[in-house]
Amino acid sequence: MIEAEKQIAAKAALQYIKSNMVVGLGTGSTANYFIRYLGAAVKNEALHTVKCVATSKASTALAREVGLDVTPLNSISKIDVTVDGADEFDSDLNLIKGGGGALVQEKIIASLSSQFIVITDAKKQVPTLGAFKLPVEVFKFARMPVLNKLAVMGFNPSLRKDTDGTVFISDNGNVIIDLDLKKIERPERLQEQLQNIPGILDHGLFLGFASVVLMGKNGKVVEFTT
Ligand code: 5RP
Repeated sequence: MIEAEKQIAAKAALQYIKSNMVVGLGTGSTANYFIRYLGAAVKNEALHTVKCVATSKASTALAREVGLDVTPLNSISKIDVTVDGADEFDSDLNLIKGGGGALVQEKIIASLSSQFIVITDAKKQVPTLGAFKLPVEVFKFARMPVLNKLAVMGFNPSLRKDTDGTVFISDNGNVIIDLDLKKIERPERLQEQLQNIPGILDHGLFLGFASVVLMGKNGKVVEFTT
């Protein structure tokens, strides 16, 4: 059910891609469906000379596996459209991202994109952000002082671990601290607080980035725009 919702949202995002575009590729299971659909569209020549930039090592590998041309961010001058998943979105199309630990690259690529399209299943729609733990990427060197500071601020932080119990390390060599906030009533205020803590590289609040959310629900795609 959820996988079908992800798939129809991912397929619907293809309508935003035209030949010769530079396309940003997100990270996660929903983004993976989009990467596969885009690869198939290029392979069957429905789309031509699409260039891609990817937000993680995993997305780069999958995109190359399905025959997409992935180029480094530093070698392109524009991104037309980025398609990515999200962990939560609200009615303002503000997002929590970073469940897959790729939030730093995801935010950079979203910020450089003329259009940022978010694809989700219906579980990601929330009245208030925060039930999903907010990921924060932190320099490994500073993880304990930052963790302590976030605890003192009442943000219920925990260091992300892999399934084998070892500390999760991002593609950038940093750690992720997840904040158990339950409800984020003032996302702009929280963003400011997090940005003012030295050692935090970035956080998973994506405020004002998404232009469109495509949500799969009951076999249909519901489109939200700003
Ligand atoms: C990765 C992300 C993902 O887009 C987010 O976690 C959603 O993943 P999925 O599509 O697997 O539910 O932000 O850092």
